[in-house]
Amino acid sequence: MASFLIVAIDGGAASGKSSTSRALSERFNFLHVDTGSYYRAITAELLSRDFTVATLAAVPAALPSLVFGTRVNVRSAQMEIGGRVIPETEIRGAEVTAAVSHFAAVPEVRAALLTYQRGQADVARAHGFGGLIMEGRDIGSVIFPNADLRFFLFADVEARTQRRALEGRADAIAERDRLDATRKTAPLTIPVGATAIDSTYLNLEQVVDKISGFIAAKLA
Ligand code: DC
Repeated sequence: MASFLIVAIDGGAASGKSSTSRALSERFNFLHVDTGSYYRAITAELLSRDFTVATLAAVPAALPSLVFGTRVNVRSAQMEIGGRVIPETEIRGAEVTAAVSHFAAVPEVRAALLTYQRGQADVARAHGFGGLIMEGRDIGSVIFPNADLRFFLFADVEARTQRRALEGRADAIAERDRLDATRKTAPLTIPVGATAIDSTYLNLEQVVDKISGFIAAKLA
């Protein structure tokens, strides 16, 4: 019987990772970490400091001035930068969404987040959670390659575009996937040995039930 589980959930833009991870964290009382929100927070902070996708070369020099912290909000971890959590409306806004894949491709940005992300397991333990559900693009491949369970969610680009439209959000899904999958450092990939789940024709509950079965078996 495992006493603390680390579950990695990777997938492309709008593949259902967040809704699935949030539901799983409720079902099992695990800490939910949406690493995309971390890349978004860093992007928002750098945009507010007048960096643009045209000045990415100057980003590494600015990184030491970003002091990261973590706030646990019920079952979700939120990144603090300089003691402040950047509001959801800002990190999910059009400007950040259009720029985030470019900032996330900067190797120094990824290096700055590596240890921080691994440290979220300690945050989960310290808060008494039974495990960690971490979602992103490189969790099962780079951040926690030895996670207890690793999943990769995918769905047709049409289904994903429709999901975003229902949320009332504009998102160049195919273009973000292309940038995320072709970058040199920690690209979006199906980790070897991960369980791939096609959610094109599954609803949220069906995906959550499927993954829950694996988690329950590990906990049994
Ligand atoms: O999951 P999301 O769409 O909110 O993620 C925003 C961007 O962050 C995504 O386009 C790529 C980047 N990202 C990443 O490079 N690695 C992760 N582990 C998570 C997100």
